[in-house]
Amino acid sequence: MSKMTSHIRSLLLVSFTAVCCGFCVSGDGGEPEEGWTANAERVAASQAREEARNRKINYREEKVPDYVLPDPLVMLDGTKVDSAERWREKRRPEILELFRKNVYGRAPVGRPEGMTFEVFDFAADAMDGAATRKQVKINFTGKEDGLAMNLVLFVPNDARKPVPTFLLICNRDPENIDPTRKVKMPFWPAEEVVARGYGIAAFYNGDVDPDKHDEFKNGVHGLFDRPGERPADAWATLAAWAWGASRAMDYFETDDSVDEKHVAVVGHSRGGKTALWAGAEDERFAMVVSNDSGCGGAALSRRCYGETVAQINRSFPHWFCDNFEKFNDNEGALPVDQHMLMALAAPRLLCVASADEDLWADPRGEFLSAVGASPVYELFGLVGLGTTEMPPLDRPVQKGNISYHIRTGGHGLTEYDWEQYMNFADEHWGKK
Ligand code: GCU
Repeated sequence: MSKMTSHIRSLLLVSFTAVCCGFCVSGDGGEPEEGWTANAERVAASQAREEARNRKINYREEKVPDYVLPDPLVMLDGTKVDSAERWREKRRPEILELFRKNVYGRAPVGRPEGMTFEVFDFAADAMDGAATRKQVKINFTGKEDGLAMNLVLFVPNDARKPVPTFLLICNRDPENIDPTRKVKMPFWPAEEVVARGYGIAAFYNGDVDPDKHDEFKNGVHGLFDRPGERPADAWATLAAWAWGASRAMDYFETDDSVDEKHVAVVGHSRGGKTALWAGAEDERFAMVVSNDSGCGGAALSRRCYGETVAQINRSFPHWFCDNFEKFNDNEGALPVDQHMLMALAAPRLLCVASADEDLWADPRGEFLSAVGASPVYELFGLVGLGTTEMPPLDRPVQKGNISYHIRTGGHGLTEYDWEQYMNFADEHWGKK
């Protein structure tokens, strides 16, 4: 058997083992606990709902098609990647380029000329004295009344500066990231994060690009794209939001209170897809957090479980580049799958999370992606996920440089999720 075939076989075996033999030894050394499986009634009800709507969406594990994942460690020309150096110099750029061309599109490179930062709000005694608040207007071109995004940042007052910081790409109503803290939401539990000694920042994705199909006339597309026909690999909206996250990082590099070498980019759902892409495009992010990101995020496209490529392109035609449509009902033709997007985070920290009731996002596909990215971490002499067995509910796996958990409940970003991300950061960023 050639080396390549043997690797593909082992990838397949990994998926098979995880699907079929999910168990895990309980923490107290007692009976092995079952790994997560989707609740059978929920599966049946979800499937019935799709059938009533006449949609080709699958929730049955046994109906997941056979698939072979592209090997992250084999170049397009068949050459095996056997060193971290070859990964860095050859394979990583190749995979990044494949994602730009086929999935997210190509964003303008680097920091825009003329961009300005204006700290328009400063409060040294925010959160009853626990934090210093800053709000920064990031004006992309520096032109008067030019398009800008607002960044809100809280830095704990009693922590040693500069502080490691979490940056949320907020894809929900901006009240979720209320700078006044009159409204407090678990989606962005700023007080809790500050209490753990971390900086916490956020921006609203709609400041960068509206979340609607506007023919790319508004937002940063309207600002930077040349008039005329859009290439099929032009950046779409997820890439625009990811680009926005990089502009926040540009600001962090100028702020002495933020440790720009320890910034985690965090996103939920469409924001989670964006965080993964931001981490791929911008290696300044030391940690990448994908919360319930599903299709086009952490979930493997080839599993066709829950939301599919065809479905997401139909519902959200502005999220991905036009080339992505070539893979509607044709996932096997993709030169990549989402485990390779995760691999682009290597050797940095990566958190992947799913929720029990969130079958639309394919929790098992999200887990298997993390499994599939692990060989790239191993190339760096690191442990990736450190297991191929899906854990039980609410039993986070934090053995290596990829963290995974599946929690009780539905689609959402909760305090429990944030706690796992902070635990992971504590472990790796020396707070423990
Ligand atoms: C829809 C969409 C998902 C997305 C989610 C969200 O459900 O189909 O792909 O992740 O919205 O962003 O909340």
